Amino acid sequence: MLRPLIAGNWKMNTTISQGVELVMRLRELTRGAEDIDIVIAPPYTSIYHLRFLLAGSPIKLAAQNLYIEKNGAYTGEVSAEMLRDVGCEYAIIGHSERRRYFNETDETVNKKIFASLRANLKPVVCVGETLDERKDNKTLGVVKRQIKGALKGLGPGMVKDLVLAYEPVWAIGTGINATPEQAEEVHNRLRDLLCEEYGMVANDLRIIYGGSVKPENIDELMAQPNIDGALVGGASLNADDFARIARFKKSPKGRS
Ligand code: 13P
Repeated sequence: MLRPLIAGNWKMNTTISQGVELVMRLRELTRGAEDIDIVIAPPYTSIYHLRFLLAGSPIKLAAQNLYIEKNGAYTGEVSAEMLRDVGCEYAIIGHSERRRYFNETDETVNKKIFASLRANLKPVVCVGETLDERKDNKTLGVVKRQIKGALKGLGPGMVKDLVLAYEPVWAIGTGINATPEQAEEVHNRLRDLLCEEYGMVANDLRIIYGGSVKPENIDELMAQPNIDGALVGGASLNADDFARIARFKKSPKGRS
């Protein structure tokens, strides 16, 4: 079993004081959780402050996005190097909200992965189909296209540092999660695809699930052989819920 990764994407939520409150409680509730990677992605404005509160805790920081250049005249943007400097270890890339509201494409996602690796940030690369695509039986084709576009030009040595997040768009913020079987089917196919392209290294790559993850469904999701963690939105804003998700019930699982 790979080391599980539970990541909280706070999206555009929390002031600094709200973030502090959340982190203080999370620290308490995750004390001693050493067999798992716990990551939070607060808004940019809180990262610097929160890094000091997280010192000595197992919780790591992620950025929700980044820009592809190192520095320069790109008003309003933040580079991977700056995010590393402020204390991030991971960066969420290609979230469906970025694709939808900010016109990100597989090509920009690809450039952001390179930028992220250049700065020694681990990319958490998001893929997932819309409801219409699922209804039209296009799910596997869509995620395959997204992965191929996102990972274009990456060799096995770079791919090993990635985390993939399968986040069906219809499950995000709707309260309707993919069933463990639906998620496992996609994760399994993604793993096969990565094995074909990159060989054995794909077996060590974590594929996490996102979309209405909550304390009530995490144990079942994590029992699936190819679900190596979760990317949590709404429930990560509640310390008790997020900590319960991070302390999911472990059950033995083997991949075929
Ligand atoms: P919810 O957990 O709120 O559905 O959001 C999922 C998500 O988008 C995480 O990146």
